[in-house]
Amino acid sequence: MISVGCDHGGLVLKQAIVAYLKENHIDYIDHGTFTEESVNYAPYAFKVGSDILSGRAEKGILCCGTGIGISMAANKMKGIRAAVVTNEFCAEMTRRHNDANILCMGGRVISPEMAVKLTEIFLNTPFEGGRHAIRIAQIAAIENGEEL
Ligand code: RB5
Repeated sequence: MISVGCDHGGLVLKQAIVAYLKENHIDYIDHGTFTEESVNYAPYAFKVGSDILSGRAEKGILCCGTGIGISMAANKMKGIRAAVVTNEFCAEMTRRHNDANILCMGGRVISPEMAVKLTEIFLNTPFEGGRHAIRIAQIAAIENGEEL
């Protein structure tokens, strides 16, 4: 299950991503927004992050104007690793090395076609584990207030 959400700045990207998920018979939860009316992005980050932390969804996709604000909000949630991505290399590496669980993109930065391409890479690339698992554990330690 993939959980998706956006603000008005990311609406066009989310629409393209939802069409891609539908076409490929990938189950998804769409938290909106559904119109171009201006909305705050943090509640959408919270909804998608909550789906992942509860186990309702394995991965999430969030879009805003730049992808930045919505990623900052999502990354405040313990256990969320949200990555702003603008190209294929970063989409692949944030899965392989960072085990990102939310892909963030900006509707004022990339095209809907690129957003679909990055989504496909993000959903189909595994985490490598090994030395990268140690680094992910260190991120979790910081979340828990531990010193590194
Ligand atoms: C909304 O205008 C815009 O600030 C938002 O979509 C996002 O880009 C914030 O990071």
